[in-house]
Amino acid sequence: MKILVINGPNLNMLGIREPGIYGKNTFADLLTLLEDAAKELGVEVEQYQSNHEGDIVDKIQWAYGKIDGIVINPAAYTHTSVAILDALKAVSIPAVEVHISDVDAREPFRQKSYVGMACCKTIKGHGFQGYREAMRYLVEQYG
Ligand code: DQA
Repeated sequence: MKILVINGPNLNMLGIREPGIYGKNTFADLLTLLEDAAKELGVEVEQYQSNHEGDIVDKIQWAYGKIDGIVINPAAYTHTSVAILDALKAVSIPAVEVHISDVDAREPFRQKSYVGMACCKTIKGHGFQGYREAMRYLVEQYG
């Protein structure tokens, strides 16, 4: 099974960015966690991070026919992007939405997720471990 993990804007700043909300671990630490989880689960993982909405749409389209499951933290685009929602619907690849923080306990504008409407599951507030849980879910359901 091949899993694509997509991280949206500002997640490359993990470790520097608002550590009180997102923690002190860095984006490089997150990439290590993804590799470790892939080994544990016996799957291939590819990671992609972009600060640009259209690039994320392009990557989701690229995944068609090549990737079996997507883990996506769309970051701020979660709450605004019909384009990413439509891209996920277009390719019909099972997708799990992940948020490091508990978005439900934050500002009201973070409580709407467009991207989540195309996802089979959402994991929020479990920190970096949420990515591992999302990968495990895809393996259990679709592997
Ligand atoms: C986030 C939550 C979003 O509201 C925010 O814009 C982010 C990160 C999270 O992982 O908790 O950039 O997706």
